[in-house]
Amino acid sequence: MLRLAVFVSGRGSNLNAILDSIKNGNINATVIAIITDNKGCNATDTAKANGIECYYLSRSSVSGFIHYEQLCSLLQQLNIDLIVLAGFLKKIPDDVVDCFENRIINIHPALLPSFGGPGMYGMNVHKAVFDSSAKVSGATVHFVNKVYDNGRIIAQAAVDISHVQSPEEIAEKVLNIEHKILPFVIKKIAENKVFLKENRVIIVD
Ligand code: GRF
Repeated sequence: MLRLAVFVSGRGSNLNAILDSIKNGNINATVIAIITDNKGCNATDTAKANGIECYYLSRSSVSGFIHYEQLCSLLQQLNIDLIVLAGFLKKIPDDVVDCFENRIINIHPALLPSFGGPGMYGMNVHKAVFDSSAKVSGATVHFVNKVYDNGRIIAQAAVDISHVQSPEEIAEKVLNIEHKILPFVIKKIAENKVFLKENRVIIVD
């Protein structure tokens, strides 16, 4: 069974979508740890409600918090197979990327490689998409490397936004597909059906 660590900074709706898919028997995985840099976010309640250990990250050395320098050893101690960034806003430290090469995935609320990079998170993304007058947006799940939103793309799903009136409307449409595409990718990884072939990520049926 795939051992997951899910990182969240905010609302946690993608985390809930993952937990629902596991409960439904759709994904053969277990969430070992929820990790957050935002003690006030919903992650704490979700962790409690599901009996999952929640860890808080801090850049300073505060008791009860995990320092970014301890993150890699914590994840190794927990025998984590896959790190899932589900709305996690901070950059993953390089040593963690090195230790977990091709074992960290992120969900991005647009069709990469457009509308990604530093500062492109949350509503900033949807505002940029709206202002560009793009007619299609979507969600991307990609491997995480040392550059923001730059890792190889695993899966994408698009949504028609020709008739939207606001960035909020785009956000709603995209979130809907995020909740499908992220569990889908985790399921495929759990089934060993995601491969790298000549620099392309292949998902087999
Ligand atoms: C999602 O749109 C995700 O793509 C982005 O941040 C948002 C997180 O939403 N990275 P939630 O916390 O999962 O509800």
